[in-house]
Amino acid sequence: MRWPDRVTLWEVGPRDGLQNEAVTLCAEQKIAFIQDLVAAGVKHIEASSFVSPQWIPRLADADEVCAALPRDAGVTYAALVPNLRGLERAIAARIDVAAVFMSASETHNQRNINKSIEQTLPLLTEVAKQARASGMRVRGYISTVFGCPYEGAVDVSTVRRIALTLLAGGVDEIALGDTIGVASPRQTEAVLEVLLRDVPADRLALHMHDTRGAALANILTGLEMGITRFDSSLGGLGGCPYAPGAAGNVATDDLVHLLHGCQVHTGIDEVLLGEAGQHLSRELGKPLNSRMSQVLATEKGACS
Ligand code: HMG
Ligand code: MG
Repeated sequence: MRWPDRVTLWEVGPRDGLQNEAVTLCAEQKIAFIQDLVAAGVKHIEASSFVSPQWIPRLADADEVCAALPRDAGVTYAALVPNLRGLERAIAARIDVAAVFMSASETHNQRNINKSIEQTLPLLTEVAKQARASGMRVRGYISTVFGCPYEGAVDVSTVRRIALTLLAGGVDEIALGDTIGVASPRQTEAVLEVLLRDVPADRLALHMHDTRGAALANILTGLEMGITRFDSSLGGLGGCPYAPGAAGNVATDDLVHLLHGCQVHTGIDEVLLGEAGQHLSRELGKPLNSRMSQVLATEKGACS
């Protein structure tokens, strides 16, 4: 294995994590969570979603949260943007990266954003065009790449077509979503093999949910194939409310520990990240799912 010296992690906990937690944090708690992440050295944070508050009530305070983001630490902030209305809100909040999103399966796309795949593509490329004209970068999520909760298997040629259309339409980077955590390392390899024929590795990211415990193995497969951009959420928070059974993202604290153990740099301070996790766990009133948060809790118990 050729290990890269450094990778880029996108922290999606404040968005993907908090959109699907039983407890709704208030804006001050969300801002404190983001401040903790920044203090730990996290440089890319998906802060919230400018979607319909009827569809995602837990992130209805996106405008308030994004107006208060710590701006002096060289952090890049992203937010989900489903349409031009969302883009206007993201521009007003001075978000750096508009994250557009759609699915590679028709049913999940309908349930999540109320449109067909064909209706979505021109809409997202228009959002991408206008976002770039406003000086933003654009990230394009493709969900259900590795399987759909409604349709099962998803054809990789559909993923490829969507990725190429979005990239041609002005999206800078494609994040491949294992929305319900069904991928295996072998499938990750097969999907990446197809995409890497046309798309450079530095324009692809992996967004793996850890429903079945395979996310770290899938990420290692991605690393082996030259991918260096990975999404994760602190403590393994999260899931898609329109994907039944979807569990959290791969845990940032577990991923950082694994990478640092392999001398792959992330720029993140593990101790401060652990403290951020403990703070978040207190705010949510429950233990986090990550292995590292459990290790910390055990060590603390042993020392007290
Ligand atoms: P719609 O109902 O078809 O839209 O929803 P509409 O244009 O008919 O508008 C309906 C209402 O929403 C109107 O309000 C609009 O003003 C309002 P009303 O007149 O009824 O009072 N509205 C908005 N309000 C605020 N901001 C906006 C906005 N747009 C419309 N931007 C829509 C279409 C896309 C808006 C809706 O389906 C939606 O918001 N969906 C979001 C779903 C979502 O956020 N899902 C979770 C994130 S995706 C995910 O987690 C997967 C990912 O992590 C990757 C992976 O894991 O695979 C990214
Ligand atoms: Mg997700």
